[in-house]
Parts: sequence; C-alpha cells; structure tokens
Amino acid sequence: MATFAPDPKAIVLITGANRGIGFEIAKHLATSPSKSYHIILSGRHLSAVESAVTTLKSLPNLHPSTTLEALPLDLGSDTSLSSAASHISSKHGHLDILVHNAAISHSSLSTHTADPHAPERARENWHTIFDTNLIGPALLTDELLPLLSASPLPERKIIFVSSGLGSITHSFREAEAGRLDLTGIAGKFTEYSSSKAALNLYARHLALRLQHSEEQEAEKDDAAEKRGEGEMEGGSAMGDGKGEGGKGKSGKWKVNVVCPGYTKTNLNNYRGTQEPREAAEVVVKVVEEEGGETGRFRDRRGEVSW
Ligand SMILES: NC(=O)c1ccc[n+]([C@@H]2O[C@H](COP(=O)([O-])OP(=O)(O)OC[C@H]3O[C@@H](n4cnc5c(N)ncnc54)[C@H](OP(=O)(O)O)[C@@H]3O)[C@@H](O)[C@H]2O)c1
Repeated sequence: MATFAPDPKAIVLITGANRGIGFEIAKHLATSPSKSYHIILSGRHLSAVESAVTTLKSLPNLHPSTTLEALPLDLGSDTSLSSAASHISSKHGHLDILVHNAAISHSSLSTHTADPHAPERARENWHTIFDTNLIGPALLTDELLPLLSASPLPERKIIFVSSGLGSITHSFREAEAGRLDLTGIAGKFTEYSSSKAALNLYARHLALRLQHSEEQEAEKDDAAEKRGEGEMEGGSAMGDGKGEGGKGKSGKWKVNVVCPGYTKTNLNNYRGTQEPREAAEVVVKVVEEEGGETGRFRDRRGEVSW
C-alpha cells in the first residue's frame, strides 16, 4: 500500500512582527487549529522580536506542531536584508510565504521630537517612508525570490500589507462619500499614502512578471512533454539562485495586496477603529486561501480599486 508523506509545514516570514498587526498575524497563524507553520517573526530589534516569540510560545492554544523563530531584519539596511536571506537559505533552504507587513507612517513618529512635516525634516521624512515602505520590501523580495522559487508547496505566496489610502480611486471615492477626511487627518498621511500607492503598483508588476514567467515555464514543459522528454525539472529561477519565475507544474505564484483596515496601532497613534487582532484576520484570510487568484487588492469587504 502506498504511503504518503505528511504535507510539509509552510515556512512563513513576516516583517515587522514584533508588534501591531504583524504580531497578530503571527499569533493567528500560530494558533490555527487546522494548520501548522514554521513562523519567522522579524523586526528591526532582535530583543523585541524575541520577546514576541516568547509570548507566542507561551500561548495555551499554540498549534502543537507549529514552530517559531526570531530574525533581525531592518528594511532600511541592505546588509540586514541579505543576512536575513542567507540565514533562511542555510537554515531552511526555501521559503513558502512572505508577508510584507512592516511600514512606517512618519519618520521617527514615536519619538515626537519634531514635526515630521517641518520643512527641515521633509526630505528625510519622504526618504525614510519610501525606503521602509517601498524600497525595502522590493529589495527584500529580490533577495527572497530564489528561496520562494524553491518552495515545494503548490503555491508560493507574497502578501503585501498595504492600505486603501494607497488607492487613488478608492480614497477619493471614500472622501467624496464623506467617509475619509483627506483635508484633515488622512491628509497628514500624504507621504505614507504615496508610498503605499507605489507599493501597490510594484506588487501588481511583480504579480504580472511572476505569472508571465510561470506561463513561459509551463509552455516549455508542455513542449518538452510533446517531444517525449517527460517532465522537466525546475525552472530558470533555480539556475543561479538569483533568478525568478515559475517551476512549471511545481508551484504557482500568488502575489496579493491586502488592506487590513483602520486599526489601533503605533502607526496612527492608536487612533484606529479596530483592534490589531481584527486587522490580522483580514490578512490571514489571504495568507491561508488556497487556489485563489494572483494580482488582486482586497480589504475586509472584498476587491479594492487600484
Ligand atoms: N494601523 C492601521 O490603521 C493600518 C491601516 C492600513 C494598513 N496598515 C498597514 O499594516 C501594516 C502594519 O502596521 P501596524 O499598523 O501594525 O503598525 P505598527 O504597530 O507601527 O507596526 C509596524 C511594524 O513595522 C516595523 N518596522 C518599522 N520600520 C521598520 C524597518 N525599517 N524594518 C523592519 N521593520 C520595521 C515596526 O518595528 P519597530 O517596533 O522596530 O518600530 C513594527 O514591527 C503596515 O504595512 C501598515 O501600512 C495599517
């Protein structure tokens, strides 16, 4: 009688997982009653991430097969990005799910030392926000694509935690309906919203690019099968370990964007209207879905316009 190996547990990396929505995403996954994961919580300060891991390990409803790990990862440092990728490569050999969660709304908001919109801080504020919210995630994706390509699971997923404020159509429609004050509080998030609009476009490009390379690999596989060469192994992504693309029939790319909703976190000085736990539910739904589409932008209510 044939025996089947148990499904490998998915390895998930979450950025900015020491607090806020990122921590709650890790908590949801760690306490999933039906699925086990290896969850890599990452953040700028190792001690903060280790303390988050300790908290999760002590949960009474932690899935018995789920394992957790703390990893230092600062989106503003190329060295940090490449050492995080090297660590995952040498320890695990691949990655299955990448959740780009970390972001900032103002540079050094937490210190309250100066108005981030003050003219003398404006350039630094724009730079830091774009560096953290767009450039860091893009470069981290580049570092991790070879490891995601090596995922043995049927779907390798990249989830961008973004914001409806990054949708021009959505935010102006909300403003016209009186549900969003773009000349008031939301207007103070112009740099953040612009960085999320750019992130959304980046994610859409990435989804398209990976889908295209997946289709090309599948065509190559079909052609090889027709020539009677049987199933080809691997794809271009595996070549130099730095490429990207699909592995033909080995796995599909799912690149999606999700807005968790207005949430009480440090990002907005705890002004949000829902708890981080509720926000994380929206993201986890996209993380856990199987057979879904790629290149979509959703929130709690469904599709969000780009
Ligand atoms: N809160 C909302 O209302 C809301 C609404 C829509 C979308 N979102 C999105 O939800 C995601 C999570 O935000 P949140 O509300 O949970 O905010 P948060 O509580 O401020 O958490 C942000 C996380 O990002 C980390 N981070 C900041 N700079 C980083 C860097 N350079 N490298 C690595 N990590 C860094 C922070 O780490 P430190 O502790 O080291 O600072 C923290 O763990 C963000 O993408 C945000 O845009 C939030």
